[in-house]
Amino acid sequence: MRVKQSSRGCCWWFLVVVTLALVYDAIVYTVHKKTEKSEGAAPIPGPPGAIEKKYVDALKIAMQFFDIQKSGELGHSKRFSWRGDSALTDGSQAKLDLSKGMYDAGDLMKFGFPMAFTATILSWAILEYGDQMAVVNQLDPAQDSLKWITDYLINAHPEENVLYVQVGDPEIDHGCWERPEVMSENRPLTQINKSSPGTEVAAETAAALASASLVFKSDFRYSSTLLSHAKELFTFADKYRGSYSETIPEVATYYKSTGYGDELLWAASWLYHATGDKSYLQYVTGKNGEVFAQWGSPAWFSWDNKLAGTQVLLSRLTFFGNKDTTNLGLQNYRKTAEAVMCSLIPDSPMATESRTDSGLIWVSEWNALQHPVASAFLASLYSDYMLSSGTAKLSCNGYSYKPSDLRTFAKSQADYVLGNNPMKMSFLVGYGENYPQYVHHRGASIPADAKTGCKDGWTWLERKEPNPNVATGALVGGPFLNETFVDDRNNSMQAEPTTYNSAVIVGLLSGPMGVRRSVKSEKPSVVSHLRIMMGQIFVSGQASPSLHPL
Ligand SMILES: *[C@@H]1O[C@H](CO)[C@@H](O)[C@H](O)[C@H]1NC(C)=O
Ligand SMILES: *[C@@H]1O[C@H](CO)[C@@H](O)[C@H](O)[C@H]1NC(C)=O
Ligand SMILES: *[C@@H]1O[C@H](CO)[C@@H](O)[C@H](O)[C@H]1NC(C)=O
Repeated sequence: MRVKQSSRGCCWWFLVVVTLALVYDAIVYTVHKKTEKSEGAAPIPGPPGAIEKKYVDALKIAMQFFDIQKSGELGHSKRFSWRGDSALTDGSQAKLDLSKGMYDAGDLMKFGFPMAFTATILSWAILEYGDQMAVVNQLDPAQDSLKWITDYLINAHPEENVLYVQVGDPEIDHGCWERPEVMSENRPLTQINKSSPGTEVAAETAAALASASLVFKSDFRYSSTLLSHAKELFTFADKYRGSYSETIPEVATYYKSTGYGDELLWAASWLYHATGDKSYLQYVTGKNGEVFAQWGSPAWFSWDNKLAGTQVLLSRLTFFGNKDTTNLGLQNYRKTAEAVMCSLIPDSPMATESRTDSGLIWVSEWNALQHPVASAFLASLYSDYMLSSGTAKLSCNGYSYKPSDLRTFAKSQADYVLGNNPMKMSFLVGYGENYPQYVHHRGASIPADAKTGCKDGWTWLERKEPNPNVATGALVGGPFLNETFVDDRNNSMQAEPTTYNSAVIVGLLSGPMGVRRSVKSEKPSVVSHLRIMMGQIFVSGQASPSLHPL
């Protein structure tokens, strides 16, 4: 199914369309021509049962990785025989319970910045697609995993201007190869505070807690707690500005942040959705928007850069509620979101060149799949916003595209990940016939009854046999630009999964399951939770007191 970029020319896009149409044979697909204007309502790419099943199966698998990454006392959350309680005393030196939360990747570090991003994305996926998750019994596990992180984040914020952003010392941790259950090394804590602030990590944590406050709306006390921490953390982030990578240089080895302006806007956008408080909207559309939003410049969405996510989230307002066309800030976010979408559609005149020969978005050698999956998640959301709001076309430099074009793109990335690629390999562990057997993951690589610890455990990394335990749901780093993959346990560049990768793929796989239809057929039961809230908040023009108890 390779479509060589070198064949790009008069009929390159046509080949792509035909190829995709053959591959996704279950989709009712109309070959579209580039036209200056598009007529009528967008066709609804209603996926019949056969094609949905694939994504449902993959979603059920992807969701399980969170159970593998859980730290703390598992209790009813114990789902894998080879996983047990671990890190029970994390936080004890500060008299805090930081035992929960999730390990970052194949190691046993708890890094607050990417962990909070995982929670924000999981919240977003639940808010948009929770009804669809519920149909296939995935809403409870999604909420359970989200709460496993938000319980931790609440405890990591014991005082107004103090947030613990890391548990474990990466030097010590990376000097060991052991199961989390036997870990006995020192687990130092790292905090941000007024003298050593960390705006991006405080703001991302605010975004996580604000979005989760919407997810857990029906649990009044928990939701209120989440929201009050979110507000306080946002104020801390905004008032004491500084990048944690600069104030605490050690953290920069692993999750170096390239700036905090994007997290401030992202957090304020989530707080606006959670509260309806106009001051948060003014924050993102006013001066801070001008300084930080980089309007007009599309960027990749990742754990480090939240701008594209912010643009898509704020586009919600112009799609569904706020028809106030005089709000130039909101228009600018929407225009930039459109530019992101235009760059993703492969035959758009604004299409990014950052793709492999067979069409996978490819931006970085390390953890290559994070960008295509996150981009596809956004494209899937945007296509749903277009469909649900009756927006028939997206204009890219004079050419127009339909919601189905974005959805086709999103599916192409999901399908690549699930095995439709030159390697014929599924990068989602446990899905399909052929998935990585040498995932760089300590727990998966060591038998549960092994007696090894920190140092003697390295033999498990080095051995030639496949992992004894399947890291079900792990989304590994993925292929090189030349579409090769080396399934080697020590190849952390390609064979290591991350928890935030799982959040974006859960979001992506929840979307194209196709419960949602056009506005006309949209019934309350299939409308996303966020949409319901948005409608009540913004269509009526004011926050409903029952939705905003604080
Ligand atoms: C503030 O955070 C920095 C960096 O983590 C730490 O070195 C310092 O001890 C903290 N200040 C207080 C008063 O705890
Ligand atoms: C593919 O790319 C990787 C990384 O750049 C390189 O090491 C490898 O040799 C390449 N393989 C082929 C078959 O070109
Ligand atoms: C694993 O990779 C690291 C660097 O990435 C290297 O230092 C180490 O020697 C490798 N170990 C084995 C067993 O190949």
